[in-house]
Amino acid sequence: MSLTTPLTSHPAGPLSGAARLPGDKSISHRALMLGGLAVGETEIHGLLEGGDVLATARAMAALGARVERGNDGVWRVNGVGVGGLKEPAATLDMGNAGTGARLLMGVVASHPITCQFTGDESLCARPMGRIATPLEAMGARIVAREGCRMPLTVIGSTDPLSITYRLPMASAQVKSAVLLAGLNAPGETMVIEPSPTRDHSERMLGYFGATLRVEPDADGAGQAIVMDGQPELSGRVVTVPGDLSSAAFLTAAALVVPGSSLTLRGVGVNPLRSGLFTTLNEMGAAIEFCEQREKNGEPVADLVVRAGTLRGVDVPAARAPSMIDEYPVLAVAAACAEGETVMRGLVELRVKESDRLAAMVEGLRACGVDVEAGDDSLTVRGDGGPPPGGGAIAARLDHRIAMAFLVLGMAARKPVTIDDSGSMDTSFPGFAALCNGLGAVIS
Ligand code: S3P
Repeated sequence: MSLTTPLTSHPAGPLSGAARLPGDKSISHRALMLGGLAVGETEIHGLLEGGDVLATARAMAALGARVERGNDGVWRVNGVGVGGLKEPAATLDMGNAGTGARLLMGVVASHPITCQFTGDESLCARPMGRIATPLEAMGARIVAREGCRMPLTVIGSTDPLSITYRLPMASAQVKSAVLLAGLNAPGETMVIEPSPTRDHSERMLGYFGATLRVEPDADGAGQAIVMDGQPELSGRVVTVPGDLSSAAFLTAAALVVPGSSLTLRGVGVNPLRSGLFTTLNEMGAAIEFCEQREKNGEPVADLVVRAGTLRGVDVPAARAPSMIDEYPVLAVAAACAEGETVMRGLVELRVKESDRLAAMVEGLRACGVDVEAGDDSLTVRGDGGPPPGGGAIAARLDHRIAMAFLVLGMAARKPVTIDDSGSMDTSFPGFAALCNGLGAVIS
């Protein structure tokens, strides 16, 4: 019996209508974790109910927080206070969730408890040394498989130390793991980032009552985030914006399927996440940001996207942190654009849920697209017309690879099939049904 669910995306007529996206994955993980560390009740509206976030919800419950979903769809978390987590009775299975696993390793590292972590085949292949190094400097011990892969054990510190840590790569997960560990350490924890990455942790820590400041890095470029340890966090009401990274698939689909017009409501538009929109604008896309507002410290807007002609551009390496999850779908948009799109600074794509550089090259070639990869770059050439399509794509347990190729199938001359769609549930439950409701033909 096969446990995989293939899907085929057929050439589609215009997409039209309005949609609300599932909750932001990054913000959902953080709301559950900070809710579990706060005193009192946190109410979470619009939590992403996808596999990754549900794994974090189960893990927080195993660590002693009370985590409940009301019949009204609102999640309520009763926290234990910073330093109050208990040792879980069983291994924490984080599924496919790199963010869940890495941030939670930070949370438990400064508690005097021992936790085992595991995950699926994709997560167990991802590097955890980048998290282990700073957490060991803070006093935790990490015992892991060869190459610091999961399954692994975090032996939390009984006497955590605050540190100053310079990130060796642009990673919001590493930054966040250090800050979350620093919550239960006395004194100031400082993370220096060479180029700014998504700041959802900082915004939400401030919203729950922690004291943070951002300073220019004394050594030149970059910035330092400084947080005071051992704050009392208080339960809050969190409204999770729609996930920009999920909106990216519908945005690209509306741009490349001729005649389309979509309204995407309530999308988070954090400037440190919005590099895709900058790039699409440079390619000639017309995307309107309407009703701009703020929800618990995060900017939110409604997006109006209409199909148009795109042209190839050069996407600088410096923009990569602000659109790191969007390269698969940008590569699809580039395949429908006229001319050459060069994307640089993509080394981190090699260690996502799959090696996304390799996955995009293999899949685009299978769909007749002219594509080339360097060690950390991707070049895609299009003629402005629909790409040939017709490929059979290995989705590699990677939700964003799966969804990117379903978008390609909507705009291509021949249908595109992905071998397994199960991973899409990690970030975008109901993706195919939502797209079909807007005019796509995915079966
Ligand atoms: C995330 C950070 C990014 C991103 C991931 C979510 C986060 O990972 O790719 O999907 O929520 O902090 P890196 O920190 O590895 O760049």
